[in-house]
Amino acid sequence: MAPSTAPKRITVPEIRARKGREPIVVLTCYHAHTARLLDEHVDIMLVGDSLGMVMHGMETTLGVTLDLMILHANAVMRQAKKALVTVDLPFGTYEESPSVAFRNAVRVMQETGCTAVKLEGGTRMAETIHYLTQRGIPVMAHIGLTPQAVQVMGGFRTQGRSESEWPAIEADAQAVSDAGAFAVVMEGMAEPLASKITRQIPIPTIGIGASPDCDGQVLVMEDMLGLNPNPPRFVREYAHLGPEIETAVRAFAADVRARNFPGKENVYAMRTAAAVKKG
Ligand code: KIV
Repeated sequence: MAPSTAPKRITVPEIRARKGREPIVVLTCYHAHTARLLDEHVDIMLVGDSLGMVMHGMETTLGVTLDLMILHANAVMRQAKKALVTVDLPFGTYEESPSVAFRNAVRVMQETGCTAVKLEGGTRMAETIHYLTQRGIPVMAHIGLTPQAVQVMGGFRTQGRSESEWPAIEADAQAVSDAGAFAVVMEGMAEPLASKITRQIPIPTIGIGASPDCDGQVLVMEDMLGLNPNPPRFVREYAHLGPEIETAVRAFAADVRARNFPGKENVYAMRTAAAVKKG
């Protein structure tokens, strides 16, 4: 049998071994074209439940279902050959009990072929993380600002800006690490706290609005591409696709209205008699 030329997919132990070493590059990804473009450049593609807000215009992530996550994860998996793909377990699919979480995580892995799942919560989710990881499901944890708890927090509020909040957040980080998570996303967290936790725990920390000291960084792809008209402060825009798309659409509309599109190069001529005979 000829040796496979397919790129080898990055593994969970490889990500785990990057603690304190080469920074881990993570972007969210929800569809096939972008998965193809990202694959060469990122270590992890996160099919985040932020897709509810970004792709579907929801106000929060609370309305995202497991079926919706699986639909988008399959689109990503069809093009992601090298990056490790992690899929968010959406609100209501894992909090009830470890066994419910297990059943839903298995569904996500079996129906998409992804490598890992992500779930929100620290100490309160440690038992579930332990249950899943002991049964073959790699888990990325998510602490700090956890958007699925937006109603409890009363909004998307940065965590740990007063030192009195630190012990609970540090305990969350330690708990998910002890429970077996292979990495932890730290979102919307005061910088010195994120830096301290990164030094304290043995698993990679992936920051978003956290600290440059984290072991990796994640952004929502559409934010860093300039598609979000109101990006959070922690976003750096590497492109301005919003205005570019508008310019392109304006030009298309003008061409259609002026009958400048389609051009000769965009239409099909009749086949010659010889070509028809040839088949
Ligand atoms: O859902 C998501 O996109 C996320 C990232 C922001 C980390 O959880």
